Amino acid sequence: MQEASDTASCIACAQDTKTPYSETSTAAIGVHTMKMPGRVYLVGAGPGDPDLLTVKATRLISEAEVIVYDRLVSKEIMALANPHAHRIAVGKESKRHPVPQDAINDILVKQAKSGRMTVRLKGGDPFIFGRGSEEAIALRAAGFTCEVVPGITAAQGCAASSGVPLTHRGLASGVRLITGHCRQDEPLDLDWSGLADPNTTLVVYMGVANISEISSRLLAEGLGASTPILAINNGTTPSERRIISTLDRVAEDAVRAEFKGPVLFIIGQVVTLYQTDHVCPILRDAIAYTPPTWELPAYA
Ligand SMILES: C[S@@+](CC[C@H](N)C(=O)[O-])C[C@H]1O[C@@H](n2cnc3c(N)ncnc32)[C@H](O)[C@@H]1O
Repeated sequence: MQEASDTASCIACAQDTKTPYSETSTAAIGVHTMKMPGRVYLVGAGPGDPDLLTVKATRLISEAEVIVYDRLVSKEIMALANPHAHRIAVGKESKRHPVPQDAINDILVKQAKSGRMTVRLKGGDPFIFGRGSEEAIALRAAGFTCEVVPGITAAQGCAASSGVPLTHRGLASGVRLITGHCRQDEPLDLDWSGLADPNTTLVVYMGVANISEISSRLLAEGLGASTPILAINNGTTPSERRIISTLDRVAEDAVRAEFKGPVLFIIGQVVTLYQTDHVCPILRDAIAYTPPTWELPAYA
């Protein structure tokens, strides 16, 4: 397997070339041209707030010659890119995949072959519901390695911005991240009885379209109708909105909220810790629904 590297050894002219980021490197004798494999970085852009980028992600974005980016990557983050970088949008929307995954994989392989330093920029973390692993596998199959730079996933970003912890002693001893959307809109095939656990926080990604089915299945497996739910829309951005609801009415409340943009559902007793006065002032108006008064446990 060929290693992706900006240093390549040219056997024909018996000389090492160390010209980073060039499409082609011409050896000193001037007759031999070879392609240099480029570095590809799968970079997590976090949930939206540019301040939540890692230092490494910020540096790579500013250095990249090519940026292949998703719809969820904000304009503010793209503004950190080198103005001369070649930008390739491969945005995906629910039920609309303008660039199919195979084509995205091909683009990455092509960029790796070109020798250009390429950042594949993905919302949140590349390896959490981001298909980053499929892209890494495709690059590997073509003979290139890539480096993965983790990002703050939506669950962490939304939990922090709303002040709701994903675990809390006495309320949730674990957290499960699940997808509310299946490949090619196939029926949801989840471990419903395992998920209906009152001691675990459930975080549902891509769940808006199926929240009615998700809540009904959890109710049917015995999770309490009054289980609190926080839905966060455009988390960590200036257009963040939230609704507080319960398992038996979340489907209705989500329709009424008419969310635009990504939504994450946090389901479980940790949501009782949500307090509107912990919301920073700019976000206070974002609350679409006044929460009922939760009975807080003594240890909360
Ligand atoms: C394809 S998944 C990508 C997840 C991403 N890789 C991550 O780690 O956050 C897209 C889903 O993530 C969630 N999401 C991403 N960013 C969000 C945000 N700023 N606010 C709320 N939900 C978000 C939504 O559920 C959205 O439908």
